[in-house]
Amino acid sequence: MRGTAHVPGDKSIGHRALLFSAVANGVSVLHGLPTGADVASTMTVLRGLGVQIDGDVDNGVRVTGRGFDGLNAPQASLDCGNSGTTMRLCIGLLGGRPFQSTLVGDESLTRRPMMRVAEPLNQMGSRVEMAAGNRPPVTIHGGGLRGIDYSSSVASAQVKSAILLAGLQATGRTRVIEPSLSRNHSELMLAQMGAAIEMDDCRTEISASSLNPLGEYTVPGDASSAAFLVAAAAMLSGGSCCVERIGFNPTRTGFFDVLETMGVELNASITEPSGEPTATVSVNNSPLRSFTLDGKALVRAIDEVPILAVMATQAHGRSVIADAAELRVKESDRLATTSAMLKAMGARVEETADGLIIEGPTTLNHAQIECHHDHRIALAGAVAGLIARGDGWTELRGGDCADVSYPTFFSDIQRLTDAVVERVL
Ligand code: S3P
Repeated sequence: MRGTAHVPGDKSIGHRALLFSAVANGVSVLHGLPTGADVASTMTVLRGLGVQIDGDVDNGVRVTGRGFDGLNAPQASLDCGNSGTTMRLCIGLLGGRPFQSTLVGDESLTRRPMMRVAEPLNQMGSRVEMAAGNRPPVTIHGGGLRGIDYSSSVASAQVKSAILLAGLQATGRTRVIEPSLSRNHSELMLAQMGAAIEMDDCRTEISASSLNPLGEYTVPGDASSAAFLVAAAAMLSGGSCCVERIGFNPTRTGFFDVLETMGVELNASITEPSGEPTATVSVNNSPLRSFTLDGKALVRAIDEVPILAVMATQAHGRSVIADAAELRVKESDRLATTSAMLKAMGARVEETADGLIIEGPTTLNHAQIECHHDHRIALAGAVAGLIARGDGWTELRGGDCADVSYPTFFSDIQRLTDAVVERVL
């Protein structure tokens, strides 16, 4: 593996740039939005609410915001596709609107818990109804919100951001406290847009505000997508790779900290230090040491656990991932699906209630991997396939779901490595 790559724009920042611009007062032109299906779902939902969105991802997406009152009652259900961020943030957004709306999703999203957002929204005065088991579809009867003090039992940026979006439309002050600081993209962007917001580590406070548009805004590359290329270069013999201008917000860089512990030769040169920091990251193939990932560090690497687990199979010693029960309610039960994937390839992995224990190093063998509508399992499986030995192929069943966050992954990998990728219909 050798070369330089640009990964698609950051998915978390992309969702927020669209949603917040849609309720700002004025026009924003968003550059570098991710091309994946998840952010497209956010655009679909906003259009269903009457928001004017023109242009395209390659040349800039122009969002005409007309304030919160510019959103119209939808004519039909709003389809969030595979995107938990779209659904949860929209529950907060629509909780403040004086009309009824229904959010639906695909098979994977329909299994994900929504009570964590419905509960604070109901406390604020909206009525959020869910299907059996507190799952989607979700119907929101919004309007008339009051500020609340809310201590979340999970460190979740989706929950926090939903409450902040509701708080922007509520009377009085809304305060959210989380057990450990989750990604703070909402807070940074809302502050930039002129919202009355204050943050102090795990506490955020917000009051009703109107938002200024972002104007011309560029989304940095997605560090969570870059992680797959970085991991491949670190593991492939003689590998090296440079990923340019990715988001390097400290609430998201847990993966790179783990790589340092593992002894990976890595250089991150900061290209933009303020606001949403960005960096260009270079990595070389290195001998790998085992690691422990838990507590606050786990929250900062929440989306990178499947690929870190693949790396752990190549590291010397026992790696332990703990405090990660949240992974059971992602696009798939990622502790179960990561463990099943690695076991199928011959790794020594034990699934615990809240994590994984992996003994390395082991040679991975090609295998059939079930992706379970989970893009990060497809992408981690593809990287595992790059380092697998023996005859045959690593077959990613349902691997097209990689398009949710990184539609150009397979073409990037074919350009950067001598791997053969075939699409079997
Ligand atoms: C996200 C927050 C995280 C993360 C997800 C994106 C966001 O989820 O796993 O991929 O953009 O807010 P939680 O907030 O549920 O931890």
